[in-house]
Amino acid sequence: MQAPIILVIGNGGREHALVWKLSQDSAKPRIFCAPGNAGTAALATNLDLAAADLPGLLAWAKEHRPYLTVVGPEAPLCAGLADDFAAAGLKVFGPSKAAALLEGSKVFAKDVMEKAGVPTAASYTFTDAAAARAHLRKTRLPVVIKADGLAAGKGVYICGSVLEAEAAIEEIMVRGIFGASGRQVLVEDYLEGPEASILALIDGERVVMLSSAQDHKRVYDGDRGPNTGGMGAYSPAPVVTDALWPVIRAEVFDRTLAELRRRGITYRGVLYAGLMLTADGPKVLEFNCRFGDPETQVILARWEGDLLPALVACADGTLREEHVRWKREAAVCVVMAAGGYPGAYPKGDPILGLAEANALPGVVVFHAGSRLQAGQVVTDGGRVLGVTATGHELRQAVTRVYDATARIRFAGGHYRKDIAWRALKP
Ligand code: AMP
Ligand code: GLY
Repeated sequence: MQAPIILVIGNGGREHALVWKLSQDSAKPRIFCAPGNAGTAALATNLDLAAADLPGLLAWAKEHRPYLTVVGPEAPLCAGLADDFAAAGLKVFGPSKAAALLEGSKVFAKDVMEKAGVPTAASYTFTDAAAARAHLRKTRLPVVIKADGLAAGKGVYICGSVLEAEAAIEEIMVRGIFGASGRQVLVEDYLEGPEASILALIDGERVVMLSSAQDHKRVYDGDRGPNTGGMGAYSPAPVVTDALWPVIRAEVFDRTLAELRRRGITYRGVLYAGLMLTADGPKVLEFNCRFGDPETQVILARWEGDLLPALVACADGTLREEHVRWKREAAVCVVMAAGGYPGAYPKGDPILGLAEANALPGVVVFHAGSRLQAGQVVTDGGRVLGVTATGHELRQAVTRVYDATARIRFAGGHYRKDIAWRALKP
């Protein structure tokens, strides 16, 4: 076969990891990344097309006929990219608009879970702020308020008091800070326990679960401070014990897919279940219709052999367990963020020490928010880098990753020093 053309859509650390893994594939693909970053530029051809530019992406794909298009972020999937590409006879890794609603609408996802008997927090849905406020008076605290639609990871409020909960309702429903995404809210029970991310490849029928990962959503050490897109991750996550896997498969993935099927919806791509491992068993916090970021960086660092055949098999409906194999190593990713993140942050600061860090054994530095400016890599986002290392066991991976972060510098850069601490606790 001629070198296949692959189009990867997105510009974060997840997409750099996808491009990095696909670039090692035995089919030696020619990779294009839209729009990509300074990291993907070294392995692929970056295209001047935003991930949200559906007409532009479709026009490019119709002209260049990629063998596969791999979609990183949720927004283009929720906007129907997979449907448009499929209608043009183009193969896509990623679910249809109808299936992506599992991430695009938390109200839809909750309804699917309730009908399917998937364990999740009990909740009420409101389309009216006054009714939501009235409900708060009889609810237990803390309580969780969620905007229905996409909110770039900012639509979830954990509220310790009725006052806080009322303020959340005000922001989402009255001031409308998330626009149409906040027309409905979920008010749900607060769950306790360690969290884990379990992702599964799905080909419309079959489910192949990927290795476990744990994300660190809070900005500061010890899980303090505001939520972020994710400050680091490691894989595997020992909190997901052998006994839990069949439970998660049956109660989360099989039940959800059966309910979608009942509604005439076929799921193809990767389904990400954010789980709370409660004393009563795993419960779903959220579904994502795409790979996690930074979970992908650690999962792909441990992926054995080619990735492309597994992604193609999802699109073709030919997925088998043998498509997915793991290295014995553990992997850790530490996100280096710009000063001020998750609030406002500067851009355009030079990043130094990348080559030195990348040369260390087991280390690969994924770019998340970077671009090239006159030959120099500069910061271009809140999450700037995802420094990733593998090791024989987790402790070695952690040592290696922090050796690498110590060599990288940019103005105001900050990162958590305790990634993987839960798994390393004596
Ligand atoms: P989500 O975007 O729904 O995953 O929510 C973001 C984060 O909020 C999750 O990773 C959890 O840490 C937290 N969260 C969401 N729902 C709940 C809940 N019902 N109880 C406790 N924490 C929650
Ligand atoms: N790491 C969380 C997410 O990708 O949504």
